[in-house]
Amino acid sequence: MSLNLCVLVSGKGSNLKAIIRASASGKIKSKIKLVITNKLTSGAFDICNREGIRCVYMAEENFSSRSKYINEFLRYLRKYKIDLILLAGYLRKLPEEIVKKYRNRILNIHPSLLPSFGGKGMYGLNVHRAVIDSGVKISGVTVHIVTETYDSGPIVMQKAVIVKDDDTPESLSLRTKKAEHILYPKVISLFESKKIKVKNQRVSFV
Ligand code: GRF
Repeated sequence: MSLNLCVLVSGKGSNLKAIIRASASGKIKSKIKLVITNKLTSGAFDICNREGIRCVYMAEENFSSRSKYINEFLRYLRKYKIDLILLAGYLRKLPEEIVKKYRNRILNIHPSLLPSFGGKGMYGLNVHRAVIDSGVKISGVTVHIVTETYDSGPIVMQKAVIVKDDDTPESLSLRTKKAEHILYPKVISLFESKKIKVKNQRVSFV
């Protein structure tokens, strides 16, 4: 089944690019119908421009009320008939109203093996710095379902990444990103072909 995807981006957008590539090459059947960014500096604008994908700038601070912001967000999701929302470096908590409406249809990718190295302040190079400082030999990537609580929704899939003795946060980040770009399309194709079953914290596909 082909799903209508919405990708939420705050930063560079390398995961967005990877999903576009996977869609263009037929690795996934789904198509990105909408990209939403909350940062004017995001790489999402250029990427979407080149690819002819609708990119919408939406930041809560530009709305006169929270409910107007949420309604506008939901209006876009409905307009583009979005089936699956993918957070790809989206540095903003999604309003609970959206999480509730799209229960089990919102995913996030995190650059560590959750539940380790997640939660407040754990984004970007901070994660990789904490991983190296802890001395663990294996790090990785997690795709999980977004719930009302940060970084702690049910885990869909993980991929391990080796931590090398001479790694810096930057070199570990590069290796981890490569794994992210493989894992996110894999998860999307799972959502395309199977029905998701979520029981407590466990995700299975039937
Ligand atoms: C990725 O490392 C992702 O795991 C995290 O934010 C980063 C986004 O990178 N949530 P990019 O903008 O896709 O390059």
